[in-house]
Amino acid sequence: MKIVLGSDHASVELKDYIKAELMKLEYEINDQGAYSEKSVDYPDYAVKVANEVTSKKADYGILFCGSGLGMSIAANKVKGIRATLCNDLYLADMARRHNNANILVLGGRVVGKGLAIEIVKKFLNTAFEGGRHQDRLDKITKIENS
Ligand code: RB5
Repeated sequence: MKIVLGSDHASVELKDYIKAELMKLEYEINDQGAYSEKSVDYPDYAVKVANEVTSKKADYGILFCGSGLGMSIAANKVKGIRATLCNDLYLADMARRHNNANILVLGGRVVGKGLAIEIVKKFLNTAFEGGRHQDRLDKITKIENS
């Protein structure tokens, strides 16, 4: 499975930790940066990751910023993106089962490394349930296209 990662300066450390853990688990990783803690603007990274996902070069994206909020707002502006901020396991489960999220967002100033990797594993290993949830996503797509 191909995963694209992106972070701003506030969460590079968590992004690099998750990258290393996912590589150990043999995921194919595309790291779009940032690569240092020099201050950058999160929307620039949100769009890079979102484009990799909508073009199907990656199966899922994972975005990181301080709170997770800015990356969520920015990524969801890209057509076809369903980015969900999941700072606990319940939300990661629901994001996939009910919302078919294609980008997981984490707040590096909110969750620690131990919880973050469990959230990532839950997200990547949980299937979308379809059915009535797909009908609801179709309504979101209509809003997006209107
Ligand atoms: C950077 O200080 C911070 O604003 C950013 O990482 C993020 O939390 C924005 O929503």
